[in-house]
Amino acid sequence: MVITEGALPVDRAAIARAIDVLGSGGLVAVPTETVYGLAADADSPSAVQAIFAAKGRPQDHPVIVHVADGHALDAWAARVPAAARMLVQAFWPGPLTLVLARSQRAHDGLTGGQDTVGLRCPAHPWARALLSAWCERRGDPAAALAAPSANSFGRISPTTAAHVRADLGEKPAGKVDLILDGGACPVGIESTIVDLSHAAVRLLRPGNITRAQVEAVLGEPVADADADAPRAPGRLTQHYAPRTPLELVEQGALSARVNALRGTRIAVLAPAMALLDWTGDVVLRLIAPTNADEYARRLYALLHQLDAAGAQRILVARPPRGPQWDAIHDRLERANINGV
Ligand code: TXA
Ligand code: MG
Repeated sequence: MVITEGALPVDRAAIARAIDVLGSGGLVAVPTETVYGLAADADSPSAVQAIFAAKGRPQDHPVIVHVADGHALDAWAARVPAAARMLVQAFWPGPLTLVLARSQRAHDGLTGGQDTVGLRCPAHPWARALLSAWCERRGDPAAALAAPSANSFGRISPTTAAHVRADLGEKPAGKVDLILDGGACPVGIESTIVDLSHAAVRLLRPGNITRAQVEAVLGEPVADADADAPRAPGRLTQHYAPRTPLELVEQGALSARVNALRGTRIAVLAPAMALLDWTGDVVLRLIAPTNADEYARRLYALLHQLDAAGAQRILVARPPRGPQWDAIHDRLERANINGV
């Protein structure tokens, strides 16, 4: 995975404007390698509060704290187990979020009142430039930016600046003070989240960094989060959902389903070979990528497109199985009207 793929050159003047906005408690949409984030000064409860207001997000959901590098871990976490340092060494900067016991600095506005904090060091050149300029402005190498994905609560995550403009929008008409345009996000789905706040390491959200990769670094098995896992909106069913009802269909059953839905306007995402021989009322057919990295990179843009097609129903052919596809299945299951 080339993290800089698709990234536009960093615009230093835009970064400087963003730092001014952040310094006065404002909101900046910033590209990361996963999705666009809605960033605010992590140390300012009122700035963090503004993120929740803009997204329409429930107060008790924690946000990820983005840091410039691994040295900031000890400022934001009360305990940093050896396993966390091994994962940082292996995957930071990159699409991996660590959940750790919080320090005093990680206030309730960030953690949703929980005793843990989510920490991530993004790899995207724009996010890195913003974080290092932020640390410089603050004279503090642990200065950080709170940033959830830059979408309204429950909607599809943004992977381009245009997605952010269309959803949250820029002030005065919209909700974001400044939207930075760094191009399309190269990974395309949210970071892998690993919970290291308990003795047993757990996977809270699958992502581009697979469970097997995490297990290989730690030398121990990593279980799925169980029912008493910390609250995480990414774990709610019906998250990452288009407005149009979306149905996941086995590839072999697709043409029968299309035909059965005759009279209903449908938009379809399926491999090229499955897009033939239909007699149904198909208003849009999109070819599904066959490579997992490409599928992930384009997933949310494809969902945005399907959602905008004026269809009454979206059909998505179930992608192949395999470790690199886990995170894609996870996101599609959450968008599926029929549940998992
Ligand atoms: O790739 C990403 O992680 C993107 C980019 C912007 O960094 N961010 C992102 O943020 O996806 P958000 O807020 O949309 O999702 C963050 C997830 C949520 O499900 C949240 O509940 C979980 O991280 N999270 C944050 N802090 C947590 C904590 N202390 N314990 C458990 N889950 C936590
Ligand atoms: Mg999100």
